[in-house]
Parts: sequence; C-alpha cells; structure tokens
Amino acid sequence: MSDKTIPYKIYLEEKEMPTQWYNVRADMKNKPAPLLNPGTKQPMTAEELSAVFCSELVSQELDDTTPYIDIPEEIRKFYKMYRPSPLVRAYCLEEKLGTPAKIYYKFEGNNTSGSHKLNSAIAQAYYAKKQGLKGVTTETGAGQWGTALSMACSYFGLDCKVYMVKVSYEQKPFRREVMRTYGASVTPSPSNTTEVGKKILAEHPGTTGSLGCAISEAVEAAVGTEGYRYVLGSVLNQVLLHQSVIGLETKAALDKYGIEPDIIIGCAGGGSNLGGLISPFMGEKLKGEKDYRIIAVEPASCPSFTRGKFAYDFCDTGKVCPLAKMYTLGSGFIPSANHAGGLRYHGMSSTLSQLYADGLMEAVSVEQTAVFEAATQFARVEGILPAPESAHAIRVAIDEAKKCKETGEEKTIVFGLTGTGYFDMVAYQKYNDGEMNDYIPTDEDLKPGFASLPDME
Ligand SMILES: Cc1ncc(COP(=O)(O)O)c(C=O)c1O
Repeated sequence: MSDKTIPYKIYLEEKEMPTQWYNVRADMKNKPAPLLNPGTKQPMTAEELSAVFCSELVSQELDDTTPYIDIPEEIRKFYKMYRPSPLVRAYCLEEKLGTPAKIYYKFEGNNTSGSHKLNSAIAQAYYAKKQGLKGVTTETGAGQWGTALSMACSYFGLDCKVYMVKVSYEQKPFRREVMRTYGASVTPSPSNTTEVGKKILAEHPGTTGSLGCAISEAVEAAVGTEGYRYVLGSVLNQVLLHQSVIGLETKAALDKYGIEPDIIIGCAGGGSNLGGLISPFMGEKLKGEKDYRIIAVEPASCPSFTRGKFAYDFCDTGKVCPLAKMYTLGSGFIPSANHAGGLRYHGMSSTLSQLYADGLMEAVSVEQTAVFEAATQFARVEGILPAPESAHAIRVAIDEAKKCKETGEEKTIVFGLTGTGYFDMVAYQKYNDGEMNDYIPTDEDLKPGFASLPDME
C-alpha cells in the first residue's frame, strides 16, 4: 500500500477491538519461573496467593498454557470509553529528522489517568468487585497507576487505599488530588499506619520512600483488613496479560494497512506496557512465523535489564511479597534522588526477563538528559507532551531513525507512547533550567543492592 494512503492516525472501529487478551506465556518454550514462597522457597500455591490477590487474578497469574482469555463484557464496555487508542504515524517527526524510516507510535495517554495503566486497573477492579470485596490497596510511584486504580474503583464502587511514595506525594500534589477526587485515600509511604512502614522509618529516618517500601505497606494493609486484597500495576503476569490489549490493537491496525514493523520499542519499568505491546509480535516470533527486533529501554540510573542479575529476588523492600525470578538490582537498591524520569523499580517482569535471557529481545539504557531532549523534540513536532517514562522509548526510536538516515534504510519503527507528562513539570522545569544531570551508578554503588538478594541455597 502506498504511503500516501496511510492516515496520520489509524483507528480501529469498535467492532475490531480485541475480545480476548493474549497470554504470551502459552507460546513460550521456557516458561517464566514461578513465584516462590519466601519462607519455604517452594512455588506459591493458588491458595497462598489468594490471601493477597483476587482469586480470578491468581488463576490468570498461574496460567501459562491458555493462549487467549476472554475479556469480560463489563471490561470491554469500560475500554470503549477510551479505546481503541490511536496508532499514529509520526510524519512530522520523520520530516524533522529527515529519515527514510517510518515511525509509528501507539498513544495510550488519552484518558484521565494519563497512561496505559487504566487497561489493567479496570480489569483488576472488576475481578475484585466480582469477588464481593470491599476494596483494594496498592502502591503508586509517580502516580499514574494510583490514579488509574482510583478511577477504576470509583467506577465499580470499591474502596481504594493508595500508598504513594513520599517524595512523589510531596512533589505531585495535583496527582494526589486527582486520586482523592476519584474517592481514594492516599497515604505517603513509608507511613506509621503499618508495621513495615514503622520499621522502615525507624531504620531510615527521613527516607523519601521507594516503590518497594510502598508495596510492602500496601500488602500489609490488604492482608490485615477484612474484605480487601492487594493489586499491583506492573511486573506480574496478569498485568502483562491485560496490557496485551495494546499490542493486539497495534497489530490489528498495522495489519489493516499491510504494514510490517521491523523494530518495536517500549520503555521498561516493571515491564507491563512493553510486555503488552510486544505480546502478539513476540508470539509470532516464538512460533517462528515472523521476526522482529524488540527493544526494551530503561534508565541508566536504574538499569535492571542491562546491569542487573537474573535471580530470585523480593518484589518489595519489606520482603513480605513472594520471590520472583527476574533481572534485578536487588530489593535494597534505591535509585539516585536526582533521577526524575520514572521507571525506578529495582526488578522486572519475570516473563520479559525470561524472554531477554533467551535472547528474544534486546535492552538498552539511556541517560535522563538525553531522554528529556527526545521528549522536548517530540513534543515540539508531534504536539503531545510525553511522560518522561514514555520518552525513554522516544529516545531510542529517534536514535534508530537517525541510523536509518545514515544507511538509507526505510525501516518501520513502532514504539509505545505510554502516557502524557502534565504532572511531571517539575522534571521538565529542571531540564529547561539546565539543572538536570545524569547519574550512572558505579559497580560499587550497585553492590549493596546485589548483597540484598536472598540466599537461595
Ligand atoms: C506513563 C508510564 N509509562 C511507563 C511506565 C512504566 O511501567 P511499566 O514498565 O509497567 O509499563 C509507567 C510507570 O509508572 C508510566 O507511568
């Protein structure tokens, strides 16, 4: 099909939206390693997991054989309020770069939560409601996940308790207020409301918190409150499953115009958007039907794929969660305070970790000033102010497009634009004022995190 006939925005029709999620684990020969009970070091059973998570979500977590799982009607109804999301041809960016590459991005920021997180939040809230729960607890870092969950809980009439990393709670009062507007209670973490919070505060007075701390508090609050369960916005298999809606829509939109991507790029924090975006493409790759270059992009200051160890580790600082086998910097790793660009989690999805270990995808790390440079360049020509997390993918998409300019290759690049950055203006301000700098941990800096890895003997 000639380029001229491809619209700026490829929208699917409502009837073309996916009715099932795709579970890439079903097509993986080497399955992701199971979650382990930190006490016995044995695989977590459904019963053990059900004390923490909703039952249906536990089934999804443990299911590595069913390729397609129906999206319940109620969730599809909610999806229709903000999906299908557009697949946009970045004609203006291509022109600016003078590249022969064709660049597409899947834009997930067009909802009040401002990111892809709503795709899983609505699913998790639905299953909690179906189970007859009163409410759920969670953690949030920058606030996108907490916002998404607050929206989903208010839709289904569930209570929502959010533990927000203290530094974000203080720096992002507006994000906090969006959550409260949707009816959530928001507690800065670490807090005195949980035992684990008190312990962390006693050991590290004045700490500004981390995602790992907030997870520990949210889990404790869920387990200790009748009618509550804990929900997580990334890392877990179930979250990647829900996020597969991104990849399925992307693939359907590309197929509609006969477009074959060469390179697929996504930012990676805990791996949920990337896992979702690449799922159907990875499925084809696993079955030997197609080949794609798939690139995970992470911050140089929190480089779990590129400098982490592939090992069993705690998912949280308080060590109350199951152990997951993943690329990790150790649950004791806390990224430098000068890192403003999101993606601060110490670990990575077990599914993506296994795919990376098997050589099925690549990973690169990028420095934050280069990320904000790409974000600014993109905002000025494409009109969307990207979230700093998303801008990691933009950075590498631009770099790949520039390589095409040198070689003259007309590659097709697809990247995930996971969200908007309107609540990240403090970081943009730092960049605009020339006050942002890069910090790359030394091998010495990484040692304490690795020392916190559990002994698996
Ligand atoms: C806009 C946005 N993109 C990406 C991410 C990274 O998360 P994940 O790796 O789970 O997609 C986040 C996480 O907070 C986010 O808010």
